[in-house]
Amino acid sequence: MESGKQLSGTLALAVFTAALGSLQYGYSLGVINAPQRIIERHYSRALGVLPQNLTRSNDTEEEELHPSVVMYWSLSVAIFSIGGVASSFLVGFVGDLRGRIKGMLMINVLAITASLLMGLARMGPPHLMVITGRAVMGFYCGLSSGLVPMYIGEIAPVAYRGALGTLHQLAIVTGILISQVLGLDFLLGNDTMWPLLLGLSGAPAVLQTLLLPLCPESPRYLYIKLGKEEEACKSLKRFRGEYDASKDMAEMKKEKEEAMKEKQVSIITLVCSSAYRQQLAVALMMHLSQQFSGINAIFYYSTSIFLKAGVSKPVFATIGVGVINTIFTMVSVLLVDRAGRRTLILIGLGGMCCCAVAMSVGLVYQATFSWMSYVSMSAIFLFVCFFEIGPGPIPWFIVAELFSQGPRPAAIALAGCCNWTSNFVIGMCFPYIEALCGSYVFIIFAVILLGSTVFTYCRVPETKGKTFEAITAEFQRRRRHRQVPPDAKAATELHHLKSSSEA
Ligand code: GLC
Repeated sequence: MESGKQLSGTLALAVFTAALGSLQYGYSLGVINAPQRIIERHYSRALGVLPQNLTRSNDTEEEELHPSVVMYWSLSVAIFSIGGVASSFLVGFVGDLRGRIKGMLMINVLAITASLLMGLARMGPPHLMVITGRAVMGFYCGLSSGLVPMYIGEIAPVAYRGALGTLHQLAIVTGILISQVLGLDFLLGNDTMWPLLLGLSGAPAVLQTLLLPLCPESPRYLYIKLGKEEEACKSLKRFRGEYDASKDMAEMKKEKEEAMKEKQVSIITLVCSSAYRQQLAVALMMHLSQQFSGINAIFYYSTSIFLKAGVSKPVFATIGVGVINTIFTMVSVLLVDRAGRRTLILIGLGGMCCCAVAMSVGLVYQATFSWMSYVSMSAIFLFVCFFEIGPGPIPWFIVAELFSQGPRPAAIALAGCCNWTSNFVIGMCFPYIEALCGSYVFIIFAVILLGSTVFTYCRVPETKGKTFEAITAEFQRRRRHRQVPPDAKAATELHHLKSSSEA
């Protein structure tokens, strides 16, 4: 019993409760796709600019929307990411203010406010209610997408840190899938129920608010940040049962000593200090390659991509993508602590690169050979599978692994901001790039994916099974190696040469 129960009921409850925040993030990402037409119509009515050729059918292909409706709709979609970009900077501040648990608890006020605004959209001008609600929800999600991996990373036993970290992504993809299913027109994606569909995005926040007081605070926060040794020890025992916590406490003590040397690291210090440059480059590149892989081009525009690939019922194909997405994230949960982060990211990025090429070939040649549409369809599904094996879940939790307690909150904030900004850029620019490049658009992603694979191969270390201290030491070793001045290198080589000739 020396190491205690690695996976206890309390740990499961804490991870489940935290991941409710990620479920909400996924739901909000996916919910806006299906009811687009219906909501646009409500906007038109509220603005008094109903399309001339409006019919009763929900699937009218050719509604000529007033430019103001198009503008308000685009804003409803995009403002979510803008909220996320703005708040992701505050993750470190909120997490350190009163702790991880109270931080997650406080921000639920935002989620519940946002969902009320959207759920009651009919009671005010719907476009303003939805836009404000989405902005507040984006702000909430920017914070929760940093706080959740931070808390899970800090409470997880080393051997299960990858699997538990991947649960953040599993909750995101489950949220996306639930929103896709509820968005079907015979469920909530219809003229009467759409406010409920949007408003439901706050439901997990209510459950989380009830459960969070039952979860122990992160022992690392208690000890390293607040210096409360006894409380940290108690918290460890709540997670692991009665056991000898001295080994875990000794590990945290070392990290605390390091953190005291570093002082509190702000975002600016993190960016400017050469001591963190390598970790930061790896962390940011992982998030950039996750977003610029083109995954959200598929998620946001899957319907039109499937239409181009010749699918007659694109809504169901989109749900199919959601199902595959969820299944392969589960596969990653099982693999990540065995195969390792580096291997899974390499396989994922390399596989996605091949699929992006296959997708383009399929789209270009499907006019000539009808069977090519199967190639593009299969490539889309495989693209998502490879994404969820590694490049989807791993960047979210690896940042907490790459940094010690001192710079961790600032690093998570910066990486989150990078993720949200690139997500926004892809969401806004993809339709224009697609208009410009046509069927060749995925070649751009293939090139980016190839570059990311090479970068990962050369620069990303394996973090599986290593303590935070060992990971930091690995980067320090690399830095020292790189910093050896040319003269010193030459002297070392000379020394080696001399000793071999003497021998
Ligand atoms: C990751 C990405 C998110 C994407 C999702 C798809 O969580 O950060 O942008 O939509 O995966 O599964």
